[in-house]
Amino acid sequence: MALITGAASGIGRAAALRLAADGLRTSCFDLDAAGVAETVDAVVGAGGEALAIEGSVTDEVAAKNAVAATIDHFGSLDVLVNVAGIGHYSHADTETLEAWNRTIEVNLTGMFLMCRSACRNSWSAVAPS
Ligand SMILES: NC(=O)c1ccc[n+]([C@@H]2O[C@H](COP(=O)([O-])OP(=O)(O)OC[C@H]3O[C@@H](n4cnc5c(N)ncnc54)[C@H](O)[C@@H]3O)[C@@H](O)[C@H]2O)c1
Repeated sequence: MALITGAASGIGRAAALRLAADGLRTSCFDLDAAGVAETVDAVVGAGGEALAIEGSVTDEVAAKNAVAATIDHFGSLDVLVNVAGIGHYSHADTETLEAWNRTIEVNLTGMFLMCRSACRNSWSAVAPS
């Protein structure tokens, strides 16, 4: 079973379709509820099985709940794909601290929260022997 963040569009949607084609059941997690529903429809339309989960990777509780919902629905979590992200081009002399912090929050802290939640719930898969 796979959990894909940023699954409402772009790389995340493509990953969901590809993993489903490879036989994985997928949880599709994104801020964009309409987009993630479209991804789930596309996966199901292609013969796969998918679950839509709306939320932000920057929200500690939402990250935890996304992992829990995946395990509740599919029985396990084997693959986490961290695609949710934001980006823009700017120059250091004009970039605002607010925009910088938001980028770090989504792209870095969000990935940390998702990895931590997945490890805590599937620890046997990553614990050193
Ligand atoms: N497409 C490229 O060629 C490319 C190249 C280099 C880096 N990237 C980066 O890879 C990431 C994905 O690229 P993409 O082209 O699929 O972008 P995209 O904008 O199509 O998809 C990003 C997805 O992440 C979701 N998202 C944003 N913030 C979120 C949050 N806090 N919680 C949950 N979901 C959130 C968005 O709703 C969107 O569905 C982006 O960070 C992008 O900057 C893309």
